[in-house]
Amino acid sequence: MRHLLNPLDLTVEETYDLIKVAEDIRENPDKYCEVAKRKILATCFYEPSTRTRLSFESAMIRLGGQVLGFSEATSSSASKGESVSDTVSVVGCYSDIIAMRHPKEGAALVASMKSAVPIINAGDGGHQHPTQTLTDLLTIHTYKKKLDNLTIGVCGDLKFGRTVHSLITALVRYPGVKFILVSPEELRIPESIREDVLQKNNIPFEEVETLEDVMPKMDILYMTRVQRERFFNEEDYIRLKDRYILDMNKMKYASDDMIVMHPLPRVNEISVEVDSDPRAVYFKQAQNGVYIRMALIMMLLGLKA
Ligand code: CP
Repeated sequence: MRHLLNPLDLTVEETYDLIKVAEDIRENPDKYCEVAKRKILATCFYEPSTRTRLSFESAMIRLGGQVLGFSEATSSSASKGESVSDTVSVVGCYSDIIAMRHPKEGAALVASMKSAVPIINAGDGGHQHPTQTLTDLLTIHTYKKKLDNLTIGVCGDLKFGRTVHSLITALVRYPGVKFILVSPEELRIPESIREDVLQKNNIPFEEVETLEDVMPKMDILYMTRVQRERFFNEEDYIRLKDRYILDMNKMKYASDDMIVMHPLPRVNEISVEVDSDPRAVYFKQAQNGVYIRMALIMMLLGLKA
């Protein structure tokens, strides 16, 4: 039995296989519509979500399986003090696989230690969000036809943004990748990613505060939301939240084939006028989340089309 807690739980080869299966699912959905018949996915979400929870549920239903779960801690017995370990021990009796989101870093790891069924980390605090990364890799592969030799700009809340931590962790395994990290001083990438992931793997990167200057060099611009829920101080959030707003004026600095990605939800960091630019792929990215989660469920449950 395998869990997915971190993007590195999958080898480069396994990640590529998932992308190829997801691309086939996107082209031939009917081939997969009964693959998970009589299987049940549980979604245990202790934190709000639209895309991750609903795309997991959509993925399982599109595979012919069924879903159950809870979408907030207050509607589960966590509100009575039940531990994560006890909850997954029980939910594993009702389901074949569990996707779990929790505000605490490491919660999915704790869950995996007691679980009798595969645990998928659907986001643990500011730590990791591996299925968002798989979604991102599928999107990059779709538009760039490769995952290597790319310059990726990541902009916004690099401190608390778990999607960024997972994406960088996954991408450093591909030759020729470079990162341009754009953030205010207070929201710089954590040392654990700068030193243990980027520097340790000799990945070229620069850290800057101004977006326009570096946009011409990017193949991908990955925008992120300032993570209000992880701030201790509302004043700091208000001061930083609108620091980067990508609008059509700024898009003039980008190359014609740069793509704009965002894990969503967006607040103000991408102006809605950018949505109609062909380089804006964030809604297609959200759609890709269904196909890659279908491929992942199949892999973790050992299912074949
Ligand atoms: N990208 C993402 O994780 O979105 P949700 O918080 O809506 O699941």
